[in-house]
Amino acid sequence: MNQYVTGAVIKELREKNKMTQLQLAEKLGVTDKTISKWETAKGYPDITLLEPIAEAFRISVTELISGTPIQNSNISANMLKSRFYVCPVCGNVIHSMGEASIHCHGIQLAPLEAEPSDEGHMIFIERVEDEYYVRIDHSMTKEHYISLVAAVSSDDIQMVKLYPEGNAEARFKIRGVRRIFVYCNRDGLFSIDPVKGIDDKESGYDDSQERRALEAAAEMLFG
Ligand SMILES: [Fe+2]
Repeated sequence: MNQYVTGAVIKELREKNKMTQLQLAEKLGVTDKTISKWETAKGYPDITLLEPIAEAFRISVTELISGTPIQNSNISANMLKSRFYVCPVCGNVIHSMGEASIHCHGIQLAPLEAEPSDEGHMIFIERVEDEYYVRIDHSMTKEHYISLVAAVSSDDIQMVKLYPEGNAEARFKIRGVRRIFVYCNRDGLFSIDPVKGIDDKESGYDDSQERRALEAAAEMLFG
């Protein structure tokens, strides 16, 4: 946290809530002089008062500190807007359904941008009954390995963590998967449309055409 509630924010919220300094003071068990001090930047409220202040204004402590109301844009969250964050120090992988401010080991992490899979990170996908079998042609040494594979549909995410010396492969339930993500500890995030990556041409089953038709129908029905 690199900011704290400011006097200007307290004053603005107090006036918005049509409270006098005295009324707010009584709610918090302090004097109106104290409120006046905060509002004129002559002191900060003690950290133990942040929750009671937020309660008095019927907002969250986060909103109080940032000074901006937060609207829940996650009501219509869509997993396809997923963001992945990876800590360069510990390798921790964090998934978020949208933009987020994420810190790990004191570093503010930026959301990873997925590149299309390249020659050094070829992603092969096979349909095995109701699963996608995903294999990546890549080394799995401690220094350079695939650490994560994820399959994302509009309302679901399946994540598999991989480790050095293991196999660069994972299995996912097909159910609506629209995107496969692969994270290489050195080269970053790659993604592929599973239909394009599918590797069962010899089966003579036109999987992609059937899927495209289904997806087009779903798009028309659900937008
Ligand atoms: Fe790599």
